[in-house]
Amino acid sequence: MRTEINDKILTETEIDPSLDLFAEIAKLKNEMNAVLLAHYYQESEIQDIADFVGDSLELARRAASTQADVIVFAGVHFMAETAKILNPNKLVLLPDLNAGCSLADSCPADEFKKFRESHPDHFAITYINCTAEVKALSDLICTSSNAEKLIAQIPQDQPILFSPDKNLGAYIMKKTGRPMVLWQGSCQVHEIFSEKKIVQIKVSHPNAKLIAHPECVDSILIMADFVGSTSALLKHVQSSPEKEFIVATEAGIIHQMEKTCPEKTFIAAPPNNNCACNECPHMKLNTLEKLYLCMKNRSPEIVLPEGVRVRALKPIQRMLEMS
Ligand code: 13P
Ligand code: SF4
Repeated sequence: MRTEINDKILTETEIDPSLDLFAEIAKLKNEMNAVLLAHYYQESEIQDIADFVGDSLELARRAASTQADVIVFAGVHFMAETAKILNPNKLVLLPDLNAGCSLADSCPADEFKKFRESHPDHFAITYINCTAEVKALSDLICTSSNAEKLIAQIPQDQPILFSPDKNLGAYIMKKTGRPMVLWQGSCQVHEIFSEKKIVQIKVSHPNAKLIAHPECVDSILIMADFVGSTSALLKHVQSSPEKEFIVATEAGIIHQMEKTCPEKTFIAAPPNNNCACNECPHMKLNTLEKLYLCMKNRSPEIVLPEGVRVRALKPIQRMLEMS
């Protein structure tokens, strides 16, 4: 059932400017028995009001175990879709349905199907940053925090297709020594860090350690002192004795780093354009206003054809069991 005003869905311009959106969202969360899950790349205010902030694997785990009736997902479409695959009977809301992902976009299901057909003996491990249709065509889903662990469990003589991130795939191949056939996709955010500007920061901050997400290109990863998923990067800065870090991932995570390590300094690694830091335009489509509206309107929601959902569930469940 939708909450409508004058028989129509409430829009952004109709939000009463005097409303305390934090209080309203908290109230709606209670009324709806909703859980608010947020990724580290969401704007700070959304992270602060979320019940749980995490990386893709942790968010999938939370979605799998929640007792809430409604999942409000502050992240991008493939993340909310994963929550829906795991919870067909729950309402899964995404503040902006256009919050996509360049990796998911780089791998259309029909082309992925042909890729699989041209490698009939290969086992398809697919990064969670893909559509439900691509998940449904995959053998196993992985995230950046469990990819190595999962691949180690696949028999050595089993050839592997890894999709859609060529940078993550190449990084894992290098770490494990395991050859894989890679889909040639990439993340538009992690691919544009400027090697030159990072070197300049290293020169002016000689004690700063470079930490990077494995979606970055190899020239950045080989310079990095630590490589890991968003959660792994956060845990690393919390446990490291070092005091200064250059952060080569989407700048949203710096909010959690500064919150939990106020005595340390975090410098956002700059991209090769005129911006000082690197933001994911898809993640940033979600705003506090849209978050409030999606709860108030109980829309937009994630809807999936049941056949696709059932097929996509299998490789996700396999991931959750193996990781
Ligand atoms: P994590 O799983 O490390 O949070 O990464 C998600 C993502 O989209 C990185 O760009
Ligand atoms: Fe996709 Fe890159 Fe944005 Fe992550 S940062 S959601 S991989 S476009």
